Amino acid sequence: MTNSHESDGASSLPTGLRMWPFKRYAEMHRRSLEDPNGFWAEQARKLDWYKTWDRVLDWNPPYARWFVGGKLNACYQCVDRHVKTWRRSKVAIYWEGENGETRVLSYSTLFRDVNRYASALQQIGVKKGDRIALYLPMIPELPVFMLACARIGAVHTVIFSGFGAQAMCDRIEDTKAKVIITSDGGYRRGKIVPLKEIADEAAKQCSTVEKILVVKRTGHQVPMTEGRDVWLSSLLDEAEVLIKPEPLESTHPLYILYTSGTTGKPKGVVHSTGGYLVFNHSAYEWVFDIKEESVYWCTADVGWVTGHSSIVYAPLSHGAAIVLYEGAPDYPTVDRWWDIVEKYGVSIFYTSPTAVRLFMRYGPEGPQKHDLSSLELLGSVGEPINPEAWQWYYKYIGRERCPIVDTWWQTETGGIMISPTPGIEPIPLKPGSATFPLPGIDAAVVDSDGKETAAGQTGYLIIRKPWPGLLLDVYGNPQRYKEAYWSRFPGSYYTGDFAMRDEDGYFWLLGRADEVLKVAGHRIGTAELESAAISHPAVAEAAVASKPDPLKGEAIVLFVTLKKDVSPSPDLRKKIAEHLRRVIGPIATPDEVYFVDSLPKTRSGKIMRRVIKAVAQGKSLGDLTTIEDETSVEDVKRAYESLRKISDPDKGA
Ligand code: WT7
Repeated sequence: MTNSHESDGASSLPTGLRMWPFKRYAEMHRRSLEDPNGFWAEQARKLDWYKTWDRVLDWNPPYARWFVGGKLNACYQCVDRHVKTWRRSKVAIYWEGENGETRVLSYSTLFRDVNRYASALQQIGVKKGDRIALYLPMIPELPVFMLACARIGAVHTVIFSGFGAQAMCDRIEDTKAKVIITSDGGYRRGKIVPLKEIADEAAKQCSTVEKILVVKRTGHQVPMTEGRDVWLSSLLDEAEVLIKPEPLESTHPLYILYTSGTTGKPKGVVHSTGGYLVFNHSAYEWVFDIKEESVYWCTADVGWVTGHSSIVYAPLSHGAAIVLYEGAPDYPTVDRWWDIVEKYGVSIFYTSPTAVRLFMRYGPEGPQKHDLSSLELLGSVGEPINPEAWQWYYKYIGRERCPIVDTWWQTETGGIMISPTPGIEPIPLKPGSATFPLPGIDAAVVDSDGKETAAGQTGYLIIRKPWPGLLLDVYGNPQRYKEAYWSRFPGSYYTGDFAMRDEDGYFWLLGRADEVLKVAGHRIGTAELESAAISHPAVAEAAVASKPDPLKGEAIVLFVTLKKDVSPSPDLRKKIAEHLRRVIGPIATPDEVYFVDSLPKTRSGKIMRRVIKAVAQGKSLGDLTTIEDETSVEDVKRAYESLRKISDPDKGA
């Protein structure tokens, strides 16, 4: 043993790996795994509790319950705590509308609003434990309503405003939400998205909805159903100015957020109040090195977990100033984002690889037109970032001055799990690697037997110890919780991702190992797409695969067989694509739809995913011994070739 820090680093590494050269991080990581309860209790003390916990962790595998017996309130952490200090006059939210409108909310304005909105919720009968569906565009009312729900112990379930009526209805039915909060509309590329009409359509199919609360955004006329629908403004007239935050059990659910898995039905991921907040509060300071004067902009939509944790709960729990932007990244001009960075002096900028690739395509002129010297730190999330995009981001956005934190995490993990931690100490970066697990996170790469892989070998990413951000459950489906995350590698959390560690111990995240796609950073299950496809009256069977896409990472390729007496046509292809778009949302639009006579199946009748994938990606098929009817593979291939011609008008049929 030469010196202590080398052994600290080495103790957490599988054999054969080089040692970590960074002492502070390695020491903190080692300590956190040696005494997780002591470590997390220390983190939890950074928050304000009405009552301290009795036990740090109850671990009844696969259920972890953190800070048991403790009481706190998420809205209090994010708002009230700050208005008791000088931060009452600090900016909480810089909001920029797509059409150039702006609103600035200080922490005291935010305090006033969360109270009045909580009062509005109470006026329509919302109580602790009720599930509330939020279907809103990126306007300040969205985070304010999330916090207002948290204030009174109601459980919000945010439905991404790009989702269609069916996707919305599925989520509402599952949570049995009685209230939908929406707006008359939202703006996207200058057009109005008719959110209220979509909510009406969803409510028609959902038996649980009793009230629809409507926020005015666009001002256009919308149908209002007497007795059910109510304008927010009419409730605010009567609103109380102070609604005491409810002291909630640490294990009280803060929210439910749906995400795709390997079956047709999305999973309702339930997050806790105490564990979730503690984890996010700490992860945020380690990863983003947040300072009082930082101006932080995460470009995600609040409708995804990134928006929940990295726009709302983590930054606001630190009293940070955040930017919230309503519109599309390249509207009305391709330099819109850089204009916003310059306008607000953004210092921390967090986006997705897809967005970086979009701007790469537009060229460096957009960012070059702007003063981006306020930037100090860049972040990436949602999908693997290819080294080329990393380099472009580093050079043209960060001007070779700003480190990039590539943050790996999932809806289920609640917060960032693997990432550089400049808030602890700078770590030498490698473009394309998310580097190391955060303190408290026991990540490993294993083979199918659960044995740690050697350096450079691809395996499955697992987490060997519970952490406070771990989901509480899959809403209403504990069986699915156990099966999806805890059955593949008993005792460990299975992420569903491929990963590799290099000889320096760095983690490289290599994409999903299951039937889940990542389209423009959005997670969507092939089974979900397939069940939407067969809900089209002309479709008999459907199979989905992805192919690599230079912009979106992955693009959707759909193969369908048609019902008897239905004949294929380019028009039908368009209609099926349009159907998916309507049923699930624009992110589900397939890039290609192929008509085939039959789908390749195994002897037991399962679709041969490997074949579908190979054909979609134009790769060779490999070993076909388990396939029942080889001619159907030929059919698929033939259909692929001929349809490629039809789908490309230049090549001609
Ligand atoms: C999946 C989770 C994390 C918030 C947004 C996505 C992929 C996420 C990275 C990254 C490589 C990444 C994984 C993961 N992913 N971040 N930095 N590098 N892959 O949350 O929708 O639940 O998706 O996104 O495949 O499993 P999500």
